[in-house]
Amino acid sequence: MTNNLSQTIKLLVVAGFAVCLAAGGFYAYRHYRASGAVLTTAEITTLAKNVALEDRAEWLRLARGVLAAEAVSPLASPREPVNNRGEATRVELGYLLFFDPILSADKTMSCASCHHPDYGMADGLPKGVGVGGHGYGAQRAGTGRVLSRNTPSIFNAAFSSIQFWDGRAGSLEEQALEPIFNEDEMAQPSAAELLKRLRAIPRYRELFGKAFGFNSKQDGSEINLQNVARALAAYERKLNVTDTSYDFFVKGQDERLTTEQLRGLVVFFGQGQCATCHIPPHFHDDAVAALGVPATAAKGAPLDADPGFGAVLRRQDGFGAFKTPGLRNIERTAPYMHNGVFATLEEVIEFYNDGGGRGRGLDVYAQDAKVAKLDLNEQQKKDLLAFLKSLNDLAPAPKAPESVPSSLPVGGK
Ligand code: HEC
Ligand code: HEC
Repeated sequence: MTNNLSQTIKLLVVAGFAVCLAAGGFYAYRHYRASGAVLTTAEITTLAKNVALEDRAEWLRLARGVLAAEAVSPLASPREPVNNRGEATRVELGYLLFFDPILSADKTMSCASCHHPDYGMADGLPKGVGVGGHGYGAQRAGTGRVLSRNTPSIFNAAFSSIQFWDGRAGSLEEQALEPIFNEDEMAQPSAAELLKRLRAIPRYRELFGKAFGFNSKQDGSEINLQNVARALAAYERKLNVTDTSYDFFVKGQDERLTTEQLRGLVVFFGQGQCATCHIPPHFHDDAVAALGVPATAAKGAPLDADPGFGAVLRRQDGFGAFKTPGLRNIERTAPYMHNGVFATLEEVIEFYNDGGGRGRGLDVYAQDAKVAKLDLNEQQKKDLLAFLKSLNDLAPAPKAPESVPSSLPVGGK
């Protein structure tokens, strides 16, 4: 009996051991199969050289392979700070403030004068036109002060933890007040003046009360700078480009990308090295880099003199470094770069293909090592361009409100 029992136990132990071995072997095999099946982007880049241009089935396989190799994820919801959840009341208030020229000293300019829905929430100009200008977007003209940098689109700004080209602001809340008081932009002389104006408008007293007050008397006591910034930021966090051909492709809809775009995707992640900084799903890395952007588009042009992040950091190695912009809707927000130097995406691709500023013979102090000569052929450049267009927003542009609480012309004049 005892003998029998110990025999059974022995048998069980041996059987258990065998099962473990078999399972271990199986998992090792599965792992081997899986890692064997997934090619790296570098391997796919090599394979791509021998694929016929019109072999859609093969390009589809390679493009899917790249997305798997890079483990790209779909877009998530933007993060909201705990003290500024985007409640509808705040978003609505921010929306109205954004289009209300009451924020500018001479009451002619709103945020939308430069960040306009018709221009992808930017202005289509090489450099923004500030106080003294009139009109909006690319029609903005007059004797206005020309700003030192290109106006970035504020689409998807919610997905960035650094704001401005040089990354000097850390949040949308922190960013929002700067243009209002900047003497070249909206040129508001003082906080007191701005708050006095807003408190004098009954509709704003009501809206601020609803958005920030608790059982508010709606007497204007919630109208302060912090809440102006919070409301603007809450609205901006709702301005997101989420529906693009690329996104639908990532979600599994093969037919959303043309064969040209599939080839471009392989270039973007592979030989082009673009995704090392323009990382999906946001197509940026929340960091700054120096590319050696020139002062004008002509080859042989000198280096742009803007210190960028160097002035924020107060260090030489930040010289000429700027924030990596997201690339969603990029076709609609020309011209490009912090100084608006390139009028077209073709010019941008040419610049990268040359190897950035250094590749063009410029003495760039700290050019990012990821920007180097690419040796793309004409076909690859075209394909890359086609892929960039797959990032266009398919949703309708945001709408301006019918009227704003100040009763001034919506968006300014
Ligand atoms: C006169 C044109 C002009 C006006 C008006 C203007 N902006 Fe801008 N905006 C710019 C320019 C130019 C920059 C880039 C400045 C820089 O990086 O130094 C910018 C940058 C930004 C950014 C940072 C985006 C990024 O990707 O880093 C945000 C957000 C923004 N503006 C929101 C606003 C809001 C909100 C208002 C209204 C309160 C406003 N802007 C008014 C021209 C303008
Ligand atoms: C080292 C990181 C890095 C790499 C690699 C890189 N970029 Fe950029 N990209 C940036 C930065 C930083 C800027 C802004 C530079 C400036 O304005 O001075 C930028 C700007 C751009 C712009 C202009 C965006 C705008 O809103 O004005 C486009 C388009 C662009 N890159 C596309 C590409 C493509 C295509 C590739 C691959 C061929 C690529 N980038 C590779 C970092 C990078």
